[in-house]
Amino acid sequence: MKIVTISGDGIGLELIPAVQAILRPLLPHDVQITEAAAGFGAYERHGTPLPDATRAACREADAILFGAVTTPPDIAGYRSPILQLRQTLHLAANLRPVRSLPIPGTRPNVDMLIVRENTEGLYSGIEETSADGERATTLRVITGEASRRVARTALDLARTRRGHCTMIHKANVLRATDGLFRRAVREVAAEYSDVLLDELLVDTAALRLVQAPETFDVLVTTNLFGDILSDLAAAHVGGLGVAASANVGEHIGLFEPVHGSAPDIAGRGIANPTAALLAAALMLRHLALIDAAGRLETATIATLASGICTPDLGGIATTREVCAAVAARLSP
Ligand code: NAD
Ligand code: IPM
Ligand code: MN
Repeated sequence: MKIVTISGDGIGLELIPAVQAILRPLLPHDVQITEAAAGFGAYERHGTPLPDATRAACREADAILFGAVTTPPDIAGYRSPILQLRQTLHLAANLRPVRSLPIPGTRPNVDMLIVRENTEGLYSGIEETSADGERATTLRVITGEASRRVARTALDLARTRRGHCTMIHKANVLRATDGLFRRAVREVAAEYSDVLLDELLVDTAALRLVQAPETFDVLVTTNLFGDILSDLAAAHVGGLGVAASANVGEHIGLFEPVHGSAPDIAGRGIANPTAALLAAALMLRHLALIDAAGRLETATIATLASGICTPDLGGIATTREVCAAVAARLSP
């Protein structure tokens, strides 16, 4: 079995090596872990944010553990390597669980799963700026195929949960694109008589997510809406420092915290490792290492419950101290 780690930039460089040290003893001895370069640091060193060697290593991996990358908005032609990986590895769905945690300030009874289409929509990368720089367009691409695929993923997962799936769109305005998305999801849902499908316009969904997050089970939506709503929902349960995600396709899975490279705290040793640890637990589950996944998740959450946490959660612990506490809970 092969795992590729991509630490990336900023706090990714602090978190992924720390998580890897915790992960190693949980893995069978024959699992190979190799680090690959991506991000702005890679761009500065190799002239590209996603070197060919990284692409090749990822294609051969069973799973990828991704830290975070910095994406400067003002370099012409620069495209975020995580978006390239999601598209080229056909990671069709981005699963973002949001669950109440035993930490102060967390809202009780939240247990939802945001299923975000991961390869198209406003993330098509098809953009144009006029010669005078006064008009710009980004193409919002929606296909029936990708919509049906993400719908199936969401509905299958709803079946294993509370049997409720909410489709989120803006078909009243984006009539062509979200009209197609909505038809495709409804078409697939007709095969799932055991799942209740309802729908919300994205603005109303944002309000409901703030007011009554406990009413959601599975949410299925297009790429940009899923990006925004998953940060919003994470605010109920501790914020970005605890939010993990799984990018899944046919075989390879890419697992990452929802957060970015956090340049405001990078290099200070205080980044919350919880999101990266929970992403690693999602990866273990994907690799069918179910027992190890459960142990890592339990140790991570128990550490938070014991009050050992980083400043974003109101604590005084460093990344290293949180990781040491998790490792101690895992050692026999
Ligand atoms: P961010 O997620 O990096 O940070 C947002 C806020 O959350 C910051 O105040 C940060 O300190 C805090 N935060 C994030 N993760 C934390 C953690 N583990 N522990 C404690 N606090 C944490 O978002 P941003 O500041 O908007 O973006 C910074 C850079 O990251 C940008 O270049 C952006 O493009 C990139 N980005 C990358 C990814 C990714 O690699 N998947 C995701 C989002 C943003
Ligand atoms: C995320 C991030 C990415 C996204 C960025 C870094 C391209 O915000 O994983 O949520 O928008 O998908
Ligand atoms: Mn995001």
